[in-house]
Order: sequence, then structure tokens, then C-alpha cells
Amino acid sequence: MSDLLITNLAEVATPIGSSPRRGNDQGAIQRYANAAVLCRDGHIAFVGSESELGERFGELAEVSRLDGRRGTLIPGFVDAHTHLPWAGSREHEFAQRLAGATYQEISAAGGGILSTVRSTRAAAEDDLVKQVLVRMDRMLDLGTTTAEAKSGYGLNLDDELKQLRAIRRAGESHPVDLKATLLAAHETPPEYRNQRERYLDIICQDIVPRVAEEKLAGFSDVFCEHGVFSADESRRVLAAGKRHGLLPRLHADEFVDSGGAELAAELGALSADHLIAISETGIEALSRSGVTAVLLPGTSFFLMKHTYAPARRLIDAGVAVALATDCNPGSSHTESMPMVVVLAVFELGLSVEEALTAATLNSACSLGLGDEIGSIEPGKRADLVLLDVPNALHLAYHYGINPVSAVVKNGQVVRRERTPCMPGSPSNDSGRRQPPERHNSG
Ligand code: NIG
Ligand code: FE
Repeated sequence: MSDLLITNLAEVATPIGSSPRRGNDQGAIQRYANAAVLCRDGHIAFVGSESELGERFGELAEVSRLDGRRGTLIPGFVDAHTHLPWAGSREHEFAQRLAGATYQEISAAGGGILSTVRSTRAAAEDDLVKQVLVRMDRMLDLGTTTAEAKSGYGLNLDDELKQLRAIRRAGESHPVDLKATLLAAHETPPEYRNQRERYLDIICQDIVPRVAEEKLAGFSDVFCEHGVFSADESRRVLAAGKRHGLLPRLHADEFVDSGGAELAAELGALSADHLIAISETGIEALSRSGVTAVLLPGTSFFLMKHTYAPARRLIDAGVAVALATDCNPGSSHTESMPMVVVLAVFELGLSVEEALTAATLNSACSLGLGDEIGSIEPGKRADLVLLDVPNALHLAYHYGINPVSAVVKNGQVVRRERTPCMPGSPSNDSGRRQPPERHNSG
């Protein structure tokens, strides 16, 4: 693997460290002006000013080069909550919502998650792999280099395994790294509608052990919500996961306060996600326990709720905040972390610096990857995003565009956009977009 040298950067902007940044530290990012980054063996060997690079490394001959074009380099986005492997589409429900129906009304009428369960059960594993790869291409275009991906549209042993195998195969044949989560407790399947206990037995006795045995997931998750799974039921599923080595994360307090945050704290979950309806005691519990809050402002936006998770109160209470897309066909149909950063700034009230930390280092930590990725520091993996903007503030200041002009994964350029960064800046490539990486999508 050849070294990669990135020069001519107006700015490098990155959080620092391997653990979640909380409180005032959430917004304390490191900036280097007129910067350069050297990648060796897939890792970062140097980050700093171009002049310091020259002093330390002299003339570098045998390297690939990436011209920063006076743009901004940030760590690759880490999308800590997605539901990537689904089949079918729910735009008809979207139309119903535009006409005034609520997400919960549509679910109660047999649509919602169960509608995607029907189409996902009907899909072949190969088809799921192809659809996941298309979504991963969009993610990479938008600067995501690592993503979490949940099952949860199978709701039986075979179809949950099918989704998790699709995640594994897609992850193996695409530059974006995927970290899989078992979400068999996403909803009660129709065949167990009146025997929820029986379905919970199946999850705990059959699905969890099999997923662990085949090493198909590192995490387990439950949709802990009024009318879906109670805190007691969620505790049972997550405890079964823990016994088999699946670390807990939790859909908590999305629509109503269900004691989800308190449960995540009690179990020492890696994350408590959504939290739109979190209570004061929930905030205190998260702050005492060190659980990361993964906020999903795209879901409030897409569900047209006009209420967002209390991000400022969480940060002020010392809870580390991370961000994710919640990419799914019903409540947040987007692969875009730049869009999530914009919503975090405009609707959650985060500063751009806090949002950058949330979308990179804190998300990485919520996946147990804080030592490896999430910041631009020597020793970390070289997962980097070049933005076609002069500084990181433009992540929110210039909204509604895709600011990504190149993506580096493990020290290799995997995406390159043609637009020159700033007027008059040198453009050194053919002006044509590179074809996407080849997949063996099976
Ligand atoms: O995170 N809340 C539960 N699950 C998803 C929605 C999934 C769907 O509607 O298909 C969410 O919002
Ligand atoms: Fe979700």
C-alpha cells in the first residue's frame, strides 16, 4: 500500500482523543491552517502545517498525492444508527403523512415497520445486498466512512439472519465499514401479535444465540417505546444479548418517555438513541452512567414533528452527544450526514464544532471504535473527508449542498469529485468523476 500525502489544505478540523467528548469539550476541536496530512499503511502518520511536514519528513518521493485545493479536511463521518438492509418503499405512507396521518396511526393500521417487514421477508439475500450497496455508495459520496446497520425487518430467525448476512457481505465488498446490530425486537411480528412473550422467548433463546454463534452482529438493540416493547421486555432482550457478547444499544424515548434512557444507563449500554421525549431523570441517568446519546434529528424533520431531542440540555448535563441518520424507509429516508449536521446546528442548537465532534469521534466511540477512527491524529486509521469549502463552518453555513470533494478510506482515495474548491484554485485531475469502487455484490 503506497503512502498518501494530502497537501494544500486551507484547514484541518478535528476533535481530539479516543473517548467521547462531553460538556465544553464537545466543541473543543483542533484546527490546523495551511495543513498537510501524511498517511502510511492505512494510518495517519502526520497531521500539521505544511512547513512542519517539510522539516520532519523532507522530500517525500514515493507517495501518492491528493491536492486539497484549499479545502477543509475532516475525519470521515461515522453514522452510528441506520436500518440499511430493507426492501420495498413506503412513499405511499409518506403521502398519507403529508395529508395529515401520523406515523403511529399508519403503524397501527398495519403499515409502518410491518409493511417493510413484508417486503424484506419477500426479498432474496442477494437483492438485499445490492440495495445495501446502493445506499452505501450514497453514504460514501456524502462522506460517511463507517456506519452501524441494524436488522429488524425480518422478525424471525431466518429473515433476521438474512438481513445480517446481507450487512456482512455488503460491508466486505465496499469501502464503507459496517458494524451490525441485531434488532429482532423492532416490532412484534404479525404471527405473534397476541403472544408477545413467545416472540421474546424466540429472540432470547433462538435468535440471539445463533447470531452470536455466527458472529453476525456485535450489538443488540430494542425499540423500547409505548406500544412496542416495554422497559422490562427490553431489559430481558438486551440482557440475553449481553450474555452472548452482544453489547446493548437502545431506541429510547422516541415518541413518549418510556424509561428508555434510564434502562440504557442501568445496563451500561453503548448508546441511547432518539431521546426526543427523554425526561429530566433520564438525562440525569445518562449523565451519571456515561452512556452516549445518539441523536437523530433527521427523524424529527422527516416525521414533521417540530420537536427535537433536548441536545443542549444533554450537553450541559455532561452527556456525550453523537449524531446519526437513522436511515430507514419510514421515519428518516436519508443517507446524508451533512444534512444531519445541518439539522443538528439549526434544530438541536449545536455549534458546528459540537456537531462535527458528534458526527465523528462521539459516533465512533458509541460503536466502540474511538481508538481507531473518529479523529485525525497520528496512529488512527486514515478515514478522511475532503470538503470543497474553506473552513468547517461551511458545513452548516452553506447548507443543502454536498460539500464532499474526496473521500479517503484506510489511506486510499476512494472518491474524487471534479469541482475545484475555490475560484482560481488549481485543479489537477481530468475533471471527470471517478467510477465508484467495484463491488462483488454477488
Ligand atoms: O428508528 N423507531 C423505530 N425504528 C425506526 C423506524 C423504522 C421504520 O419506520 O421502518 C426509527 O425511527
Ligand atoms: Fe432507528
